[in-house]
Amino acid sequence: MAIQWFPGHMNKAKKQVADRLKGIDVVIEMLDARLPASSANPMLAGMTSKKKALKILNKQDLADPTRTRVWIDYYNGLNDTRAIGLDAGDKSPAQRLISACREIAPHRSGLDKPLRVLICGIPNVGKSTLINSLLGRRAAKVGNEPGITKGEQRIDLADDFILYDTPGMLWPKILVEQGGYNLAASGAVGRNALDEEEVTLELLKYLIVNYPADVEARYKLDGVAEMLDDQLLEAIGRRRGAMLGGGRVNFQKTAEIVLTDFRDGTIGRITLETPEEWKDWLTEARRL
Ligand code: G4P
Repeated sequence: MAIQWFPGHMNKAKKQVADRLKGIDVVIEMLDARLPASSANPMLAGMTSKKKALKILNKQDLADPTRTRVWIDYYNGLNDTRAIGLDAGDKSPAQRLISACREIAPHRSGLDKPLRVLICGIPNVGKSTLINSLLGRRAAKVGNEPGITKGEQRIDLADDFILYDTPGMLWPKILVEQGGYNLAASGAVGRNALDEEEVTLELLKYLIVNYPADVEARYKLDGVAEMLDDQLLEAIGRRRGAMLGGGRVNFQKTAEIVLTDFRDGTIGRITLETPEEWKDWLTEARRL
C-alpha cells in the first residue's frame, strides 16, 4: 500500500473520550461527505455503540449530492442514528444540529435535563470550522470549570443543550486499502505518509468509472471512460503542460495538480465510496 500511516496517541484519545462519554446523550461524529466510511473512526464506533448517534456528513459542498442522500438514508436506517449533510456555508448549523439531536433524544430537554452532546471527528474533517461558526453566532463558550479537561471545550448552544468538543486527537484508522487511498486523496493523511502518484492513480481509476464526464470537462479530454489510469495521468500532464525535458510528462507534478483539483472541488462534486462499495471492501479485507 502507498500509505505509511502510524498515528500516535490513540490510547490517550481513547481514554479521554471514554471518560467524557459518561453522561453524554448523543455522540456526533463528523465525517467527510466525500468518504463517509473511510473518515469514520472505528474505535469510536466500538466505544459508543450504546449511545445515540448523529453523523454529520460535512463538506457536502464538495461531495456528490445524490450519493450524500444515499449515505444519509443509509445512516438513518441504523438503530438510534440520524444523519445530516452540512458545509461551512450553512447559515444555521446550530439550529440543524440541535434539531437533529433533539429528534433522537427527545427525552432530554429543559433546564433540569439538558441534552449533553459530544462532538468528534478525525483531523481535517472541518470540526474547528464548525465550532468556530457555532461560537461566532449564538453560543457562549464556557471554559475552566470542573469536569472540563484542559483543551476541551464546552459550548452552550441553548439553555438546555450543551455541546462538548472531544479532547485529544481522534485519528483515522485504515481498515481497508481503498479507505486509505480515499483518506489520502481527501488530504486527511499527512503528505509525508503517502506516495502522491500512487494515490492519484487510484483516484483516477475510480473517476474513470464513476465520474468520466467531470474529468473530461475539467481537463478538456475525450474518451476518458476508455482510458487506463496511467494513460489518463499522462494525458492530464500533457494537457496541463506538466513536462520534464525530452517531451516526458512530469507525473509527480501532474499528481499534485489532480489532488489539488480534487480537494478543492475543481473536478466536480465527487464522492469516493458508496455504502455498498464499502461493504464489499470490508468483506474483501476480512477475506485476505
Ligand atoms: P479540523 O478542525 O477537523 O481539523 O478541520 P478544519 O476545521 O481545520 O478544516 C480543515 C479544512 O477544511 C480547512 O481548509 C477548512 O477551511 C476546510 N473546510 C471545513 N469545512 C468545510 C466545508 O464544509 N466545505 C469545504 N469546502 N471546506 C471546509 P484548509 O485548506 O486547511 O484551510 P483554509 O482553506 O480554511 O485556510
